[in-house]
Amino acid sequence: MTDQSATLKIGDKSVDLAVKSGTIGPDVIDIGALYKNTASFTYDPGFTSTASCESKITYIDGDEGVLLHRGYPIEQLAEHGDFLEVCYLLLYGELPTAAQKKDFDYRVTHHTMVHEQMSRFFTGFRRDAHPMAVMCGCVGALSAFYHDSTDITDPHQRMVASLRMIAKMPTLAAMAYKYHIGQPFVYPKNDLDYASNFLRMCFAVPCEEYVVNPVLSRAMDRIFILHADHEQNASTSTVRLAGSSGANPFACIAAGIACLWGPAHGGVNEAALNMLTEIGSVDRIPEYVARAKDKNDPFRLMGFGHRVYKNYDPRAKIMQKTTHEVLGELGVKDDPLLEVAMELERIALTDEYFIEKKLYPNIDFYSGITLKALGFPTTMFTVLFALARTVGWIAQWNEMIEDPQQRIGRPRQLYIGEPKRDYLPVSKR
Ligand code: SDX
Repeated sequence: MTDQSATLKIGDKSVDLAVKSGTIGPDVIDIGALYKNTASFTYDPGFTSTASCESKITYIDGDEGVLLHRGYPIEQLAEHGDFLEVCYLLLYGELPTAAQKKDFDYRVTHHTMVHEQMSRFFTGFRRDAHPMAVMCGCVGALSAFYHDSTDITDPHQRMVASLRMIAKMPTLAAMAYKYHIGQPFVYPKNDLDYASNFLRMCFAVPCEEYVVNPVLSRAMDRIFILHADHEQNASTSTVRLAGSSGANPFACIAAGIACLWGPAHGGVNEAALNMLTEIGSVDRIPEYVARAKDKNDPFRLMGFGHRVYKNYDPRAKIMQKTTHEVLGELGVKDDPLLEVAMELERIALTDEYFIEKKLYPNIDFYSGITLKALGFPTTMFTVLFALARTVGWIAQWNEMIEDPQQRIGRPRQLYIGEPKRDYLPVSKR
């Protein structure tokens, strides 16, 4: 880190601030002592220009459309690796050797079952409860079962909790789906790979054997890879902030799930598919594009735009390719939603408004079409996002706990409320 410095002038005062450089990407101005030296805070709602931490896990270049996990491009990981290999990379910082991968797969596979009492939690929910509400509740409840891995000061317990989360999220997600549709839970099978196990737990029924389609399983695995981690996005920042108070990892992941649910974040894949369904046909696209451009209309094109990517989201390209693979394998020739999506993308990429605002399709634009084709209802889309993002949340949480600079997160504010005033008895109000 090469340190330079910046000088800030406030009135007759000037303050020198350290400027730090990372390996790649923008420098940061260290303002840690700003309040002490100037009695002023910085102001950056939405944290558009704020780095909250140092990290080695994921690097994004929004202008170049670059996404690296521990230095490896997402395109190469999605092409050559599998999801558990990416999990190992995110957690440990290096690609595993064959022996390390075999051991990691074995350890994850043998943590996929959940405590049998967990199934009682589901019966408290209505069958039509949104699966994300169920996941918020059940994942938070894991800390009531796994007390032996909640001491965050113990690296061994942190790793056990990390593996448990990665291993059990598919089981809980599948249970949430089965409960939602009124079918019996399906237990994990240790002779299946991660994605195949998940598809079987979702779509198998006791009445007949379920044979996993390897093309669909590979597509599911790649979708998990594409959603694994994404720097300091809203839900990851939520997990870090919750973890900074010393909360146990299961509670922190439940907080991340709650944040991801929002339609501006992880809820977009559900919202994007609902939008494509509402548009319904290509001839109605101009009406919706006009609405998206109308300042007085809150409507936005779901799946377009990104806080960081001001160029094409590299994940969206791979997602689009996966969509065609899945639809091809399933013999879905002319999916009207795909037709609308591709025409909407073509129009948006040539429209002055979207070009000027640098609005490109993001990962969520195509994922909904793919997940629907795989057989999932829209209410499960964000659950699948949460399943995949759990490894990113856990890796970032571990990095935060191990960071010597880490303290409890406690932002300040610009107060614009009433100055001090005295209480008025009701007779005088
Ligand atoms: C994810 O952070 C991550 O990494 C998230 C994520 C991850 O992997 O964790 O990548 C996953 O959340 C992807 C983003 C999914 N969200 C959506 O697709 C929802 C629709 N997109 C927008 O809500 C919006 O683009 C955001 C929230 C994604 C980004 O918001 P910004 O950066 O705050 O952008 P902005 O709201 O300042 O928009 C800039 C301009 C605005 O117009 P002006 O006020 O300048 O006139 O672009 C307009 C916006 O009105 N705009 C859109 C638009 N997105 C932004 N106009 C129409 N349709 C859109 N989708």
